[in-house]
Amino acid sequence: MVAIYPGSFDPITNGHLDVIARGARLADRLIVAILRNESKQALFSVDERISMLKEVLGCYENVEVDSFHGLLVDYAAQRGATVILRGIRAISDYEYELQMALMNRRLHSEIETVFLMAGEAYSFISSRLVKEVIRLGGNISGLVPPAVEGRLKERIGEELGSQ
Ligand code: PNS
Repeated sequence: MVAIYPGSFDPITNGHLDVIARGARLADRLIVAILRNESKQALFSVDERISMLKEVLGCYENVEVDSFHGLLVDYAAQRGATVILRGIRAISDYEYELQMALMNRRLHSEIETVFLMAGEAYSFISSRLVKEVIRLGGNISGLVPPAVEGRLKERIGEELGSQ
């Protein structure tokens, strides 16, 4: 079974990593796919995010990193994937995820969305909050992989330096 784990990953957090570790045990091949979204202002470019994901996920033999644009279901079909993998942290994620899963099913009924519950230790982590905390000088260790923490500090330092 080929599964796609799509997202923005700006940047990848330990919550994403937890879902990837679980997903990699369920799927024969797991494609972690970054959405190329020109309209969304990201902290890291898609190429930077690809390189961070590759660095952090190098230990998984059946996990591949890629990017896509356009409809997720079209990309999934083109990659021969039958499953879209998403993580759910709390009930607040449910509504948005339900909407996307139902829309994706309507667009392509053979592709199933499978949800994994994020580990409780990660249920409060989001890329958005991690960026906010580090911008305001808070400690983010343990929330993102160490390599990502270093790049985040660098990038936020550059951002603050240019203001
Ligand atoms: O990490 P995110 O930002 O919550 O991921 C959202 C993502 C990338 C899964 C979603 O925005 C998406 O699939 N976009 C691709 C465009 C698409 O297929 N839209 C219709 C989905 S219902």
